[in-house]
Amino acid sequence: MAVSKITDSVFSVGAIDWDRQLFDELIPLPDGTSYNAYIIKGRERIALIDTVDPSKEDALLRNLRHLGIDRIDYVVSNHAEQDHSGAIPAILELFPESKVVTNPKCKEFLKELLLVPDERFIEVADGEELSLGDKTLRFIYTPWVHWPETMSTYLVEDRILFSCDFFGSHRASSCICVGDKCKVLQDAKRYYAEIMMPFRLQIRKNIEKLAGYDIQFIAPSHGPVYDKPEWIIEAYKDWISDRVEKKVVIGYVSMHGSTQAIVDYLVDKFAESGVFVMPMNLTVADTGELAMELVDAGALVFASPYVLAGAHPGVVYAAYLANALRPKVKCIGAVFSYGWGGRGNAQIKELLANIKAEFLEPVMIKGYPKERDLDALDSFVDDVIQRLPD
Ligand code: FEO
Repeated sequence: MAVSKITDSVFSVGAIDWDRQLFDELIPLPDGTSYNAYIIKGRERIALIDTVDPSKEDALLRNLRHLGIDRIDYVVSNHAEQDHSGAIPAILELFPESKVVTNPKCKEFLKELLLVPDERFIEVADGEELSLGDKTLRFIYTPWVHWPETMSTYLVEDRILFSCDFFGSHRASSCICVGDKCKVLQDAKRYYAEIMMPFRLQIRKNIEKLAGYDIQFIAPSHGPVYDKPEWIIEAYKDWISDRVEKKVVIGYVSMHGSTQAIVDYLVDKFAESGVFVMPMNLTVADTGELAMELVDAGALVFASPYVLAGAHPGVVYAAYLANALRPKVKCIGAVFSYGWGGRGNAQIKELLANIKAEFLEPVMIKGYPKERDLDALDSFVDDVIQRLPD
């Protein structure tokens, strides 16, 4: 990423990772990502807001040189995860007078994860301010977006919120600000789904806390800067609300076609009833897409053959992930095609114990669905629809 100017005193100096395909060795990145870092030039002092992933340390240092930065007084660490903190040791070495400014929880993480020595820290409290001369940084604790120590930094005079992962999106782009709003919205929703969704109740409190701030820009640490931040805040408000759509996500695996036939029948029935239905073949589905669909789905259904005396491992994996993501679905159901027996439904129910949703009676079909099985599937569809909004 070349250096980009946001205001006369604020510059983006982070790195674009065009080629990264996986995050946390788990999350697919179809649009790459960026690790944003920002320089704030105050009249008396210079601050760097977050750093970059260690793999892109060279790009950060190159951008600082390009901007003519020969002094950094403060390295603000909003979040200790290494994609933002990983280059802090290099900055501290290059600028021996610099201090890491962060909250006590983040300090402990940085000491443990990156071996930053205790004497290099300045601890800040929630709401505390730090002057750069003519610029003022205010630190706002915003925990659980998505670690317990996460905070945001507000640049008072320029009305910029540096939110780190909060409001971020995995998108590599040479444009500093949002260009294609629809694409960024999808990326931000995917990002929310993958790491923020389990914490939506805590995020509510953070959004309420930010309501008192006049924000002209949100500058996150992944993806573009929001120069019109209202729409992403409104999108978040919707995602964290209790509102669900008239939508069913069906995660399934079919080995020999029986489960596929069941899913095809369910899809037709839901669609005929005016329900938006999203079948996802879990052997090929992008788990990020699955997470994203669950952000506002009203119902989650798993369909699986019995294999090894239980649900298919592909379904088990998806159920495990869904449980960790804790979507706000109102009901959960399961449909099985079995040969001789097993404990698939109990297994799925146990796996989804974190989700506060009603579990419907499962449908068990021996082998391929026959005419006599269709009544049970029809009842199942009715049960799901009754629990969806109109
Ligand atoms: Fe982008 Fe939680 O790190």
